[in-house]
Amino acid sequence: MKKIIAIDGPAGAGKSTVSKICAARLNYTYIDTGAMYRAVALKVLQSGKNLDENLINDIEIRLDAAGKVFLDGREVTKEIRTPQVSRGASDVAKFGFVRKKLTELQRDMAKSSSVIMDGRDIGTQVLPNADLKIFLTASVDERAKRRFEELKAKNLAADFAKIKTEIILRDKQDSEREIAPLAMADDAILIDSTNLSVEEVVAEILRLAQ
Ligand code: DC
Repeated sequence: MKKIIAIDGPAGAGKSTVSKICAARLNYTYIDTGAMYRAVALKVLQSGKNLDENLINDIEIRLDAAGKVFLDGREVTKEIRTPQVSRGASDVAKFGFVRKKLTELQRDMAKSSSVIMDGRDIGTQVLPNADLKIFLTASVDERAKRRFEELKAKNLAADFAKIKTEIILRDKQDSEREIAPLAMADDAILIDSTNLSVEEVVAEILRLAQ
């Protein structure tokens, strides 16, 4: 039977890492909705145009099974991970017409197979009838530390204080926006991963999925 798992939470809580692993173990499709908001932000940044409905109406966003992201037919998997696009994604996510378009696409993507979808409003708005809803969080320091270590491991420049400030700002903007803010659904299960390993979080979600 087709099943839906919704995983919401703030920036850097490890949603995509654990969602990917759980999806592989359960043989579900993983849908990263943050990547879709990032793709919209990239389109705005690269077009040099103002964000309006024309820019969004004919947008084509595709996530393939290997986790690659395509914007209007072009692969943008790496380009959407810059700090500039992170900020831009949180900015475009405030607009009702953007959310409406992406929510429609996301619901469509969840129609044909079992999915794990991660984001900010999946359990509250996109798929309120999900079979299992998780709200995954961790302390700001822990989230900033993970991001810092991720960048270091890739030999990329990393400034802990800057990363922490960016995370705080993005959480604030995502939680305080008027439409579909970051929120825990009433029937979601809270997992605080501050002191948990990836494998421990995965094990808990798989246990709950059963
Ligand atoms: O999960 P992420 O960091 O890749 O998401 C980037 C931004 O996109 C996030 O700061 C807010 C927005 N977003 C959203 O508003 N709703 C979602 N379901 C997913 C992401």
